[in-house]
Amino acid sequence: MQPQTRERINAQIRDEMERDHFPEGFPTLPEIPGGRYTDPDFYDLEVEHLWKKSWLCAVRADEIPNTGDHTLFERIGASVVIVRGEDGKVRAFHNTCRHRGAPLVEAAGSQKRLICRYHAWSYDLAGNLKTVPEEYDFGDFDKCARGLLPVSCEVWDGWVFINFDTEAGPLMDHLASIHPDLRDLSMDNLRVKGRLNYRISCNWKAAYDAFLEAYHVKAIHPKTVAMLLDPAGTAIGLFTGGHTRMALPKRFNRGGGTWGTEADNYDIPTVPEVFRENNVAYGIFPNTVSPFDSAGFPLISFWPVSKDECECELIFIGAGSEDENSENSEYWKEFVKNYDIIQMEDFQFLSGIQKSLNSGAFTGMQLCYQERRIYWFHEQIDRAIGEDRIPENLRVEKLLSDFVER
Ligand code: FES
Ligand SMILES: [Fe+2]
Repeated sequence: MQPQTRERINAQIRDEMERDHFPEGFPTLPEIPGGRYTDPDFYDLEVEHLWKKSWLCAVRADEIPNTGDHTLFERIGASVVIVRGEDGKVRAFHNTCRHRGAPLVEAAGSQKRLICRYHAWSYDLAGNLKTVPEEYDFGDFDKCARGLLPVSCEVWDGWVFINFDTEAGPLMDHLASIHPDLRDLSMDNLRVKGRLNYRISCNWKAAYDAFLEAYHVKAIHPKTVAMLLDPAGTAIGLFTGGHTRMALPKRFNRGGGTWGTEADNYDIPTVPEVFRENNVAYGIFPNTVSPFDSAGFPLISFWPVSKDECECELIFIGAGSEDENSENSEYWKEFVKNYDIIQMEDFQFLSGIQKSLNSGAFTGMQLCYQERRIYWFHEQIDRAIGEDRIPENLRVEKLLSDFVER
């Protein structure tokens, strides 16, 4: 992280601690239309233009360390096999045999070839069709034209991102505004330590919104997050591409560590001071948020299931012995358990919010200055979909570009 970024965060925290009035020059935010969370056509627009054209953080590269190791990504109606090739490169393909469409892979595993169980066509790890039983019976048949269908795939600091748009620009262009802040975390050296998965009865955005502000901390996390962090010092950054940052100063564990995670032998040594003294969370557009810390941290992702339902997945990564995880280590077990408690506090109102929205009585969200990350996230959704495709009554007014951190 650049020294000026660190200073900017610390100065913002100091200013927020003293602020007792609405900030001069900041707009009063208009309502976010409730239809964005309920309208089936808006949901379809999101699937087509946001989910099918955005870089999405799918899995960790350290879960497929060796040639032939593969795993599955099954969300937003797609099935994708992510596999490590002979050359060490991670690639992604639609999990669809090019003969008659049977799935090639049914679970994570390791194979030198991907062999369809239906009629035994086989593909190499780069997706080329290699063998076809009784090939002569296909007549004038070009095996080269029936390789696996690729999905764009790139790795950023150990995280495997995919994009269904095969013409997508480079992942690093998408992450350019936040990568400099995060590269010192050395995430490619860290390993998966645990997972949590939840199904929530609300639109995916209602769930993601809940992780973009700290206005709720005193009310719903009095015995957890509010013990560790002081929401009075909430410092927010908005970035190009819809990404965001939110730093809250810690009340204790200022040398690193969060609630109940004080253990020096799990410290990530490269983590800068600012991530130790504060909880610095980044929202990575469109659907992830991560509270980075030197003691380990989860990447939290939100995935739509339908317009009224979503899934939330936490993938925890950290330092320490490679073999340790939440199954065999007290530290990681406790770490994951503590997050589970906080997640349940965060989720408690989401199904009720969706009911309010679906009832039609609640017409939209009235956000405050402290919730401006949510507004910026919604602005970017419109940019991703394309303003002209969105009915006027469901758009959000574009107001926050002038407040982007440069
Ligand atoms: S569907 Fe895969 S070999 Fe026939
Ligand atoms: Fe929360």
